[in-house]
Amino acid sequence: MTNLKMFSKFFSLTALLQLVPCANGAGQQHVLKDKPTSPFDAKFAKLAKDTLELWHVPGVSIAVVDGNDTWAEGYGISSFPSTPVTPETLFCGASTTKAFTAAAMALLISSSNYTGLSWDTPISSLIREDFVLPDLYSTEHVTIEDALSHRTGMPAHDASYGGTNEKGEKRGVRDLVRSLRHLPLTAPLRMRFQYCNMMFVAVSHVVETLTGVGLGDFLKENIWEPLGMKSTYFDTDAAQAAPEPFAQGYVYYEEKYQPVPYMDLYIVSGAGAVISNVLDYSKWIRAFLTTSGPLSNSDYAALKTPRTLLPTSGELSRFPQPYTGPRSYALGWYHGVYQGYEYFGHSGGMEAFGAEVVIFPDLNYGLVSFGNTGETSNFAILKLIYDLIDEKLVIPPEKRYDWNKQNQALLHRRNHTYYNSPQALYPSIPSPPLPLTLPLASYTGTYTHPAYHALTLVLLNNTLHFYRDNASWVTTFELQHVSGEFFLAYMDSRAAPGGIFWAVRKAEFVLGSEGVVRKFGVALEVGMGEEGRIWFERV
Ligand SMILES: *[C@@H]1O[C@H](CO)[C@@H](O)[C@H](O)[C@H]1NC(C)=O
Ligand SMILES: *[C@@H]1O[C@H](CO)[C@@H](O)[C@H](O)[C@H]1NC(C)=O
Ligand SMILES: *[C@@H]1O[C@H](CO)[C@@H](O)[C@H](O)[C@H]1NC(C)=O
Ligand SMILES: *[C@@H]1O[C@H](CO)[C@@H](O)[C@H](O)[C@H]1NC(C)=O
Ligand SMILES: *[C@@H]1O[C@H](CO)[C@@H](O)[C@H](O)[C@H]1NC(C)=O
Repeated sequence: MTNLKMFSKFFSLTALLQLVPCANGAGQQHVLKDKPTSPFDAKFAKLAKDTLELWHVPGVSIAVVDGNDTWAEGYGISSFPSTPVTPETLFCGASTTKAFTAAAMALLISSSNYTGLSWDTPISSLIREDFVLPDLYSTEHVTIEDALSHRTGMPAHDASYGGTNEKGEKRGVRDLVRSLRHLPLTAPLRMRFQYCNMMFVAVSHVVETLTGVGLGDFLKENIWEPLGMKSTYFDTDAAQAAPEPFAQGYVYYEEKYQPVPYMDLYIVSGAGAVISNVLDYSKWIRAFLTTSGPLSNSDYAALKTPRTLLPTSGELSRFPQPYTGPRSYALGWYHGVYQGYEYFGHSGGMEAFGAEVVIFPDLNYGLVSFGNTGETSNFAILKLIYDLIDEKLVIPPEKRYDWNKQNQALLHRRNHTYYNSPQALYPSIPSPPLPLTLPLASYTGTYTHPAYHALTLVLLNNTLHFYRDNASWVTTFELQHVSGEFFLAYMDSRAAPGGIFWAVRKAEFVLGSEGVVRKFGVALEVGMGEEGRIWFERV
């Protein structure tokens, strides 16, 4: 029944060459392509090759779901020297996982197996001991819906979690949730969109507590198997042992590709642990387009309802965006309007993987693409998938959004910010700068924070360094003295240098009256602002 209904919608929109008004209201009209033919022609192959070269991405895979048809293609290298990407190649889906986590919650809510469970249920009523936030009001009122739409008041704090505990055991989902009580909130509940992976992990913990089953196993049994997604995994070991080839992630650094070791996704769980290929994701996209099982119509309706408006400020606000009207976050999905068509989508980013899913329900059309570098593969993918979308919508070349220009400008700005950070972050320091109170060696030692855990400052080459080796995202920091007890902390990734964690942060020490170093504060959480500090107490 659902298929028939969707088919007629698809038919009226594409097969009948219906005229559709342009989004910009300037009076132009564009004609949708009628006959589905493979979008992966020779011209696109050339674009793919050029785009991979431009962004220094070894490879990408792409699938297009157009009405009843699915096309999938791989371009470039899955692992050097010469293994090509194919549609079967596995990639980290990263944050495209979030839509599955929200879908799992939808299944639990609509199953009626749990009395009183709804999107409005406070998380603390389900995992009381574990889910505690720094204030009582937030603890008692943050709901499942808040967590799944990034409006809890909690910023990312991605540098806090992971590693092993005092007993040498790997920290897990429950440990991450229990650390939330020690992490500063940066907005009142439901005031603004603040992307928070940790809250999706809290929802993992809810699903696991209610069902007694790991989230990955729950998704496998209740979503992936019913949809025939046989190449979808929830941990790195399983993906490495799988019959399908698993793409190697890379970083392009110092003018060459360097492999980045696979990351342990155990604690990332419902925020980003899925590993899959474009063939399996096209089944997921088709289910979304046809609102077919295992999710019900009302499940899809809930997942697709916009919940939180996206801010109009931020890194991208300097660029004219190609969307019409405000964008929002639904449950595990971004939502907006592109060229007059409503879309749902999500990007995914890891240190060495990028992913994008974009779905246009009214066009019965969706795309997924994966790549094997961090962020630059998202840039390559955006160029490629929007070329396919614009071809489909017959947008004339001069009206197309220039994704490469936007993202090159973004990198350029970031580079400029990095190299100008001494002046930008410390615009007024005394001349000459104040000397450090104590000899550098007096600042070394171990410091600790209840959620960010231990941090050890060491002296190397007469410079202070610390390493976040005991965290999910392994980063290194080199401190450069500015004035008095104030420093710049030059940050980078251990495994993927020059990539997504390449940045500069402010840092400072506090001395006690007895003349020894007591505390070390670093602006580790961007959501707290430049002056925000995560304070580590000296032990
Ligand atoms: C699409 O699939 C539906 C359901 O199987 C079928 O009824 C319909 O004829 C198909 N449409 C096209 C254009 O092949
Ligand atoms: C709800 O409970 C029934 C009966 O125990 C079970 O078969 C079903 O899988 C449960 N559904 C969910 C989503 O947990
Ligand atoms: C992680 O922290 C724990 C507890 O402080 C410590 O025992 C362990 O050695 C650390 N691991 C690494 C790799 O630093
Ligand atoms: C980054 O900025 C530095 C210093 O201004 C400059 O030397 C370098 O070429 C820039 N790199 C890029 C990729 O823009
Ligand atoms: C210390 O300096 C030496 C010599 O300049 C250099 O080879 C080494 O990489 C430096 N070590 C660190 C940790 O910066």
